[in-house]
Amino acid sequence: MDRKRIALVGYGNVGKALVDMLAQVDPEGKRFVFSGICSRSIGVANLRDLAPEKVEKKLKANKGDTRAYNPEERVREVKTYLKEGDYDILVEATSADYDTGEPARSFILTALDRGIDVVTCNKGPIALYLNELKEAASRANASLMFESTVMDGTPVFSLFKSLPPVKLKKIRGVFNSTTGIIIDNMREGKNFEQGMKRAKAIGMTETDPVNDLSGMDAAAKLVILCTALAGHGIKLPDVKREQITEDSLKRLVAKVKDDKCVRIRQVATADFEKKEFKVGLEVLKPEDMLFSCSGASNAAIFSMDLFGEMVIAERDPTLRETAFGIYSDIVDLYSKDTCYY
Ligand SMILES: NC(=O)c1ccc[n+]([C@@H]2O[C@H](COP(=O)([O-])OP(=O)(O)OC[C@H]3O[C@@H](n4cnc5c(N)ncnc54)[C@H](OP(=O)(O)O)[C@@H]3O)[C@@H](O)[C@H]2O)c1
Repeated sequence: MDRKRIALVGYGNVGKALVDMLAQVDPEGKRFVFSGICSRSIGVANLRDLAPEKVEKKLKANKGDTRAYNPEERVREVKTYLKEGDYDILVEATSADYDTGEPARSFILTALDRGIDVVTCNKGPIALYLNELKEAASRANASLMFESTVMDGTPVFSLFKSLPPVKLKKIRGVFNSTTGIIIDNMREGKNFEQGMKRAKAIGMTETDPVNDLSGMDAAAKLVILCTALAGHGIKLPDVKREQITEDSLKRLVAKVKDDKCVRIRQVATADFEKKEFKVGLEVLKPEDMLFSCSGASNAAIFSMDLFGEMVIAERDPTLRETAFGIYSDIVDLYSKDTCYY
């Protein structure tokens, strides 16, 4: 069988976790090799189809690159590589931008226009431009996969692909892990900063954590679900967001005191009948299916015309779960012509 050559753009928390996972499942690169790894600081590391288990060592050795660090020049190199380089699949894992979706949108379009399949975990370009990117993919007979944009590696989009057509009436979910960690820390008597530090230490925060607290991360996930699963034309500014501050959390935590029978969570809701789309803090009771979301855990409740309520959840996700989502997409892309197991 053909080995698939991966170009990975973005070698931060998620990019590294993906390399680790492939080094575990396919160390010698029998199925997947890395043709290149790119980021703002690396520029392009041309790995010439390197086996996953050798990538980390090779990148460490490359650290001797003595050129002056010029991020703009390196990003230009990345663009040229994506336009001209030899690879079969682009894995896009750069930081999310919710105003322009760049540079990810351009990276993704460059690969799709060449007929190259793309897997991304980046909510920015998918929340802002999903339909445009899908059209570009279909024009070039390529695939665009984005499972890990919502609930990391939990199969949400692939699950819906396996269902008969349904009409969604409502989506309600806990989608942001950073706020969950901060809230639980505060309820245990620690302060806001300690919770944020903990979330950062395990790689859970957005590159800019303002996007966690402003509800932008959860709103982007809601928009992606509405667009991809319900064909709804909702845009990011249509989602009403409640900004979380240290003070607003302190007040809510003090209000519920030691009541173990309630949980505070940032909840995202899309009510298609009421045309209401919002992200805000809620005090959840045990009978609410979202109550089980402790720590970084996420869950979503889907209400449908042909199926009452379906709940999907992940307990305490880590970066491995996000890497798993990307890996699932890659395997899904090529499972049509290959048996992997
Ligand atoms: N962390 C999670 O749990 C999680 C879960 C699901 C989805 N995601 C999504 O996954 C993506 C990556 O997250 P992360 O936690 O890995 O972020 P991160 O640690 O901040 O890494 C971001 C990477 O993107 C690179 N980058 C940024 N701008 C670039 C540019 N203009 N050109 C080339 N490379 C660029 C950075 O390069 P330099 O470091 O060299 O500047 C870095 O390698 C984000 O879109 C995030 O929303 C994350």
